Amino acid sequence: MDDWVVELRGVTRQFITRQFGTVKAVDQMDLSIRRGEFFSLLGPSGCGKTTTLRLIAGFEEPDHGQVYINGEDVSVLPPFKRKVNTVFQRYALFPHLDVFENIAFGLRRSGTPDAIIEKKVSESLELVRLNNMEHRHVQSLSGGQQQRVALARALVNEPEVLLLDEPMAALDQKLRREMQFELKRIQKTTGITFILVTHDQEEALTMSDSVAVLNTGHVEQLGTPRDIYDQPSSRFVAEFMGTANFLPVHISRVSNGRTTVKLSNLEFLVPSRHGLNEGSAAEISIRPERLRLTHEADPSGNSMPGLVTDAVFMGACTRFTVEVDGQRQLTAEHQNLAHTAYPDFVPGDKVWVNWGHSSATLLPSSAVSS
Ligand SMILES: Nc1ncnc2c1ncn2[C@@H]1O[C@H](COP(=O)(O)OP(=O)(O)OP(=O)(O)O)[C@@H](O)[C@H]1O
Ligand SMILES: [Mg+2]
Repeated sequence: MDDWVVELRGVTRQFITRQFGTVKAVDQMDLSIRRGEFFSLLGPSGCGKTTTLRLIAGFEEPDHGQVYINGEDVSVLPPFKRKVNTVFQRYALFPHLDVFENIAFGLRRSGTPDAIIEKKVSESLELVRLNNMEHRHVQSLSGGQQQRVALARALVNEPEVLLLDEPMAALDQKLRREMQFELKRIQKTTGITFILVTHDQEEALTMSDSVAVLNTGHVEQLGTPRDIYDQPSSRFVAEFMGTANFLPVHISRVSNGRTTVKLSNLEFLVPSRHGLNEGSAAEISIRPERLRLTHEADPSGNSMPGLVTDAVFMGACTRFTVEVDGQRQLTAEHQNLAHTAYPDFVPGDKVWVNWGHSSATLLPSSAVSS
């Protein structure tokens, strides 16, 4: 049986605003988070990530639905009674206190004996690799170091769940990478469930065991990074998780887990999808790196003829734009590997665009046609 540490059941949180009237920041959301996993809430600005985190932390109460922690309904429990801690985007450190006292603050307030405070603070400083910095003033620290103090301050309480709201947003690219690595290491070392809010899909993909993609207050898809990238459940997810090509198709046959789809006079085989049957309009989504350009059609998979209209060398890969089926543009990426003998294509070349039978995802037809 799954061991859920956090569960949201039909949770709605709405705000009344002067400008927009009622805004449903979180709209009948269901969400289950396993104990000990690195979980990310991912989505565009305004989709409800922070509100979801605040509902878990107890800074917001649901208008409808329940929040469970360890199976207990905590929907109306104040934050300090929940075994969760939050690291905010602005670290909210106390500027007049040194590193040690910033971390010890909560423990002192709860009357923890000095010897235990000493031990716990040292342990958490070690965990975030800030040993020997305990007497520095937080204002004299770099952004990355302040971030670590904020982390240590949350970890010192030994929460069951650590909530992180875009904790790396203020860091430059290099520090951000470093902190991502550190966070992952700390999560593994402590075994604490981490719930990270981010709008950076690469960050979510590289760090998480599970990702929930949010769209206008609900969970659009929940799965492993690989599921979400390779088998997006909707066009919204496919587009949000990097570059995707879309082709509108018509379903002509469904058999044995494979579906035959038609585009103009071309036929392709794609993995079937529940609910998409013969006769329906649909679309297929294919990642640029799954497309291969060749001079001859590859009979082992799907192929369509095209015309190269652009080729951009990008270092590790070359990105081609290919016009297919009249006016449609596809993006294909070839890795620039020394040992592969991909022919070089230039604008004006007639090519075949090929992809494997399992490389595309079948999606319900979207209102926006490409
Ligand atoms: N206290 C509030 N009062 C009014 N509206 C709010 C409040 N908090 C959130 N909202 C609205 O609810 C929606 C979701 O907000 P939320 O902060 O959860 O989004 P987010 O996904 O964290 O976005 P971002 O990536 O920009 O931080 C937005 O439309 C926001 O304006
Ligand atoms: Mg936010």
